[in-house]
Amino acid sequence: MTKQWMLALCAVLVWGCTEVSPTPTASAPAKPKDGELAVPTGYQNGPTFLSEVQRPDAKQVRELFINAVGARTNAGQPFPNGTVMVMELYTAKMAGETPETGADGKLVKGDLAKILVMGKGEGWGQEVPDNLKNGQWVFAAYGPDGNALAEDFTKCRACHAPLAQKDFGHRYDEYFEKRTAR
Ligand code: HEC
Repeated sequence: MTKQWMLALCAVLVWGCTEVSPTPTASAPAKPKDGELAVPTGYQNGPTFLSEVQRPDAKQVRELFINAVGARTNAGQPFPNGTVMVMELYTAKMAGETPETGADGKLVKGDLAKILVMGKGEGWGQEVPDNLKNGQWVFAAYGPDGNALAEDFTKCRACHAPLAQKDFGHRYDEYFEKRTAR
């Protein structure tokens, strides 16, 4: 290949890259507020955060996911900006008033009830009162059909806020322990 051709090819490649660079859309605000953070497409195929979290108290089984950015975090570190975590809430199958258990002693997963999302980014989540700030995390909630739910996000914030030492993640320690063991 001649030098001229190489240069032409490089120019095409560089131009091509600028053409496909992502542009923010109206549905994905640059600085999402609570309720505006989208469910990441294909999150189910991404890294697992924790699987089959048993919540007999809430009559639920929960599946937790984290995106690739978050999964690169080392134990003891906060998650970097760009981290998104998704938690699926499944109703536990009931035998009358008591949740059913399978042969493995675990609750039996029923229908998907809700999808909760937490994500952090530069300058996000600062428009709330100080006592409800969760660092730069924002919260969102969706129904099983993917429609946004009008949750009271102050509740999410109030229950996660005390966990500043664990970057506001309730199962921070458990995640790193199980990830090391995997
Ligand atoms: C009463 C406390 C409480 C409230 C309110 C709450 N959470 Fe959580 N959240 C938890 C706990 C505890 C976990 C860990 C998983 C488990 O045990 O079910 C969790 C886990 C999560 C996770 C997975 C990442 C992590 O922290 O481990 C996401 C995402 C999440 N919550 C989002 C939300 C959203 C969005 C709301 C509001 C719609 C909300 N939470 C409200 C207690 C709460």
